[in-house]
Amino acid sequence: MADVSQLAAQFGAEMEYETADTFYLRLLEAARSSGGRLLIVDPDGKVQADTYDAVVGSRLAISEMWSVLGGETDGDYGFHLLEDEGDTSPSWLRRAADVMLGRSSRGEWVGCFAAPLESGGRFSGALLLIASVQDTVDSLNEIQMQMLGVFLLALLVVLVTAGLITRVITRPVAALSAGIEHMGRGDYQHRVHVSGKGEMAHLAEAFNQMSEQIRSLDEARNQFVSNASHELKTPLATIKILVESMMYQEDMPTELRSEFLGDINKEIDRLSSVVSDLLTLVHIDSHKLRLRREMMVFAETVRESAARLAPLAGKRDQTLDVQITDSCEMFADPVKLGQVCYNIIENAIKYTPDGGSITVKLKKSGRDAVLEISDTGVGIPPEDQAHVFDRFYRVDKARSRDTGGTGLGLSIVQQIIRLHAGSIQVFSEVGKGTTFIVQLPVK
Ligand SMILES: Nc1ncnc2c1ncn2[C@@H]1O[C@H](COP(=O)(O)OP(=O)(O)O)[C@@H](O)[C@H]1O
Ligand SMILES: [Mg+2]
Repeated sequence: MADVSQLAAQFGAEMEYETADTFYLRLLEAARSSGGRLLIVDPDGKVQADTYDAVVGSRLAISEMWSVLGGETDGDYGFHLLEDEGDTSPSWLRRAADVMLGRSSRGEWVGCFAAPLESGGRFSGALLLIASVQDTVDSLNEIQMQMLGVFLLALLVVLVTAGLITRVITRPVAALSAGIEHMGRGDYQHRVHVSGKGEMAHLAEAFNQMSEQIRSLDEARNQFVSNASHELKTPLATIKILVESMMYQEDMPTELRSEFLGDINKEIDRLSSVVSDLLTLVHIDSHKLRLRREMMVFAETVRESAARLAPLAGKRDQTLDVQITDSCEMFADPVKLGQVCYNIIENAIKYTPDGGSITVKLKKSGRDAVLEISDTGVGIPPEDQAHVFDRFYRVDKARSRDTGGTGLGLSIVQQIIRLHAGSIQVFSEVGKGTTFIVQLPVK
């Protein structure tokens, strides 16, 4: 554009003093070096000189030229596509381009540049340069294609990344939420599978562990409810039979009647001890059971429990030997620990035949009070030893029901000891006897 203005200034000056021939030669030269066609038009738009010498004397319909001649601008340019079909570009322009390129120029871009001519201080027409800009358009197109390529590549990268993210994050999350839905419906068997070692895999693993815990809790709860119901139903059934036989047998001997009433009373006792044990366990489970700790002498608690049970042992000709080595002062709940001692000693008496012996030993060992309760009783088979602390677990169902047990005693004992941060172990040999060892921290 700047070139055309410069050329216009140069030729405006030359028009004044050059001869027409020389002027035309110089015009041809300039046209060759700019690689286009140069035209000079007078202020009326009539072509005065044409380096292709084809349209001299005619008026051309070139908008850029007319806007310069109209004095609207001091330079204008435009680009025209020489279309293949339905061509609207002027035929002379097409011809010009054909000549310029030395071949058919259909479908190519041509630029028209116009600048006003001034000669001797007067406006004397316009200079017009027509040149192919196809090379520029081509390189623009090429840049466009390259940019398109880059864009497609970026798109591909984005898609691939999105795909990877989906694999790495979304899928495991979907798997987890499906797992949670299963759990919500009460299906605790469902497990989530996430491969790899990342955070998601850890999460899935934690989820699976949680499902397993919930599953076993659910099972334990069901078991507990069915055991408890059974435990309550048995005495109720017995009571019902006894009451019914008393109802339908009006002439029942008084002795039999009072025997029945005694049995009913026993069953009611059973019921109430099951219920109170259950309540204790429910309390412990719901973390409502609070320890009432105070400074206490554990030796006294042990002695008291033994003293309370001495008559029971005496009734069965059993020796109950209490050997206390240390007083074991500690900060603990005396009532709950009394319950622990009572339950274990009572078991020892219950599960030891008449004439047997029970030994209770208490000593301090390091930071622990160690309570050892041994008997010369029936013993516990090895396969049952791990279960005696389970709720409702009884080694010999029939026998221990006779002895009035609920099967809850040892599980309550274990929970109380846990609350005190202690431990309980059982050692036993069938037919020889059993030893329970309780360890409690002395503070
Ligand atoms: N000293 C012991 N000797 C033999 N068996 C015992 C002894 N202590 C507990 N057991 C067994 O462990 C079971 C659970 O004890 P426990 O929870 O106190 O229930 P129970 O109400 O039957 O006494 C008992 O039924 C019994 O079979
Ligand atoms: Mg018991």
